[in-house]
Amino acid sequence: DKAGHKHFMAKEIAEQPRVLAAALGHYLTPEGAIALPEPGIDFASVERLTLVACGTASYACYVAKYWFEQVARLPVEIDVASEFRYREPPIPARSAALFVSQSGETADTLAALRYAKSQDARILSVVNVTESSIARDSDIALPILAGAEIGVASTKAFTCQLLVLGALALEAARQRGTIDDAALAAHLQALRQLPGLVDQGLSIEAECQRVSRGLAEARDILFLGRGRMFPLALEGALKLKEISYIHAEAYASGELKHGPIALVDEHVPVIVMAPHDELFDKTVSNMQEVMARGGKVLLITDAKGARIAGDGVWEVITLPEIAPLWAPILYALPAQLLAYHTAVAKGTDVDQPRNLAKSVTVE
Ligand code: F6R
Repeated sequence: DKAGHKHFMAKEIAEQPRVLAAALGHYLTPEGAIALPEPGIDFASVERLTLVACGTASYACYVAKYWFEQVARLPVEIDVASEFRYREPPIPARSAALFVSQSGETADTLAALRYAKSQDARILSVVNVTESSIARDSDIALPILAGAEIGVASTKAFTCQLLVLGALALEAARQRGTIDDAALAAHLQALRQLPGLVDQGLSIEAECQRVSRGLAEARDILFLGRGRMFPLALEGALKLKEISYIHAEAYASGELKHGPIALVDEHVPVIVMAPHDELFDKTVSNMQEVMARGGKVLLITDAKGARIAGDGVWEVITLPEIAPLWAPILYALPAQLLAYHTAVAKGTDVDQPRNLAKSVTVE
């Protein structure tokens, strides 16, 4: 049932404020503490965290790496499951390994989990399907509570994965004593505002639809982001490739001048994900390098960012202001909506893109 939407993907994008609120209700107590399922996790005794997943779920891990490192000062190793499982990486004592999977049945992720288990790592998972193989094989499985996701392109599962990983990173910080009570309370308060901000953020849809008519003409599209926004650039490019079949690449904006800037001309739209955060000026200077070469920039930012850097760009999409730590969750919306409307403009099969399966149970 598409609940009045044209596609499951549209319905699932629109559901995000509600499912994020449900996940928040599950992981945050009314008193403002973080609640994890028993037996809980002793993060103080963990010296390294390994994050493994495939596709969009791996981009959720990339964002989480920034959170765990920055807030919990926990060293994080990250890999895609198909590489991790065959690298047979040494897993030091006092490691935890965390696997993220919507379906809980992705063959490579499950094999990676079993390898980590054979090396005596503590096994955590973040899953949507709680009766899945990955959930069953974990010491502790954290549900994302997104509800069934039907569209092949992952949307609400991604934002719910991020929310759960964010709460987990805060809990790790609390246990490890890397955050004081006031800062923790402020982060939790900001997390609580997310469903409302995502709801407001959905109002960019008409803008995304309009801009997408231009994107649909492109043969190649570049996405740029820095820091926590780099994985969002990766997610934007993947979503667009999957459902609109337009070739898209994502780069950490600082990598631009190490190669990809050679691609820039007036035919290649460059989508820059840049909330006004501590790295904004750096990203903007990369953006200006693109514009100086005739590049056509779509800047996705907040009102402050638009005021400072919106002059001369091709298009600006303005999202609500948000605490910088949690911006990746909100900036998933333009990644999803631009891909969706570009695909609709091109007339592709949004919910069942060619060559793709919802659950990849063979390697
Ligand atoms: C992208 C997408 C895929 C999945 C990947 C992992 O939109 O849906 O990249 O994220 O196949 O699937 P799960 O999360 O089920 O392990």
